[in-house]
Amino acid sequence: MTARMLRLFPGQPEEVAVAGAYLSHRLHELGSEASPFVYASFVSSLDGRIALRDPATGESRLPAGLVSDTDFRLFLELQAQADCLITHGGYLRDLAAGRLDDVLQVGMQKAANGLARWRADNGLPPQPVVVVASASLEFPMPDSLARHGQRVFIATGAAAPPERVAHWRAAGYEVLIAGAGQSVEGAALLRELDMRGLRSLYLLAGPRMLDTMLRDGRLSRLYLTTAHRLLGGESFHSMLAGSELGKAGRLRLGALHYDSGTLDGTGQFFAHFEPWAHGPEL
Ligand SMILES: NC(=O)c1ccc[n+]([C@@H]2O[C@H](COP(=O)([O-])OP(=O)(O)OC[C@H]3O[C@@H](n4cnc5c(N)ncnc54)[C@H](OP(=O)(O)O)[C@@H]3O)[C@@H](O)[C@H]2O)c1
Repeated sequence: MTARMLRLFPGQPEEVAVAGAYLSHRLHELGSEASPFVYASFVSSLDGRIALRDPATGESRLPAGLVSDTDFRLFLELQAQADCLITHGGYLRDLAAGRLDDVLQVGMQKAANGLARWRADNGLPPQPVVVVASASLEFPMPDSLARHGQRVFIATGAAAPPERVAHWRAAGYEVLIAGAGQSVEGAALLRELDMRGLRSLYLLAGPRMLDTMLRDGRLSRLYLTTAHRLLGGESFHSMLAGSELGKAGRLRLGALHYDSGTLDGTGQFFAHFEPWAHGPEL
């Protein structure tokens, strides 16, 4: 049976198919020269946890009970619309250690049914470009990127360790200097990617990359799946860890869907928001 969910906003509530719900957003058409479309997605608990940290080892993990087949399909639909995936050194270290799955290619999983074809039909190359943001530049490069012929950029700040910059350049990678300090800054990175003709950019990254894009006013859309449970846990990550955002953190709801059947019937909300930095600070 085709999975379905309820669209609660905008308009009158209406049942829609899960498959295709995010493809209909046509994110690959929303960016333009000097104004790439930058989107991010997170899965969170009701108490705002996106990952739990083991207090003993300091290791972080995505807790069981947050994700479902529905949000995985929607995640793959977001990935399929990207010219470019922006990931980071931490993800590649987690991937190498077997803590996370490889999601840097389109069309590899059973749930990605039809998405490789969708890219071809919509004039996108088979696989997106990948950007790895890192301040330390200490990460392993996964073989899957070369195997799938993906173009890879490494992004870092001007104060990154010069020997690591030299290491990656000697290995044949283009290293983009996108920030005055050690970290990558949103506006500087987007300038570099815009020059290379990349228009739909999916942040497959975490709190720090979201923070820099929001502060620089460069986030176009935030997708948020909320699992209807409280997690607790003394040590955890939320979507942001930096200082107060002020107006840059104001968002307006674009759409809200509800799947009551996921996670053993506790269900999930699927929302997306757009920055709304207009008007006086409240
Ligand atoms: N539930 C969800 O939807 C969701 C989404 C994202 C992440 N998570 C989880 O949340 C936890 C924390 O996320 P995270 O690991 O992404 O944390 P993070 O603190 O945002 O990023 C970790 C690493 O990414 C690199 N990085 C990120 N932004 C950078 C920037 N602007 N400039 C240079 N380097 C940058 C750095 O790598 P170097 O050390 O190489 O410099 C940094 O150590 C993890 O367990 C993750 O799996 C959950």
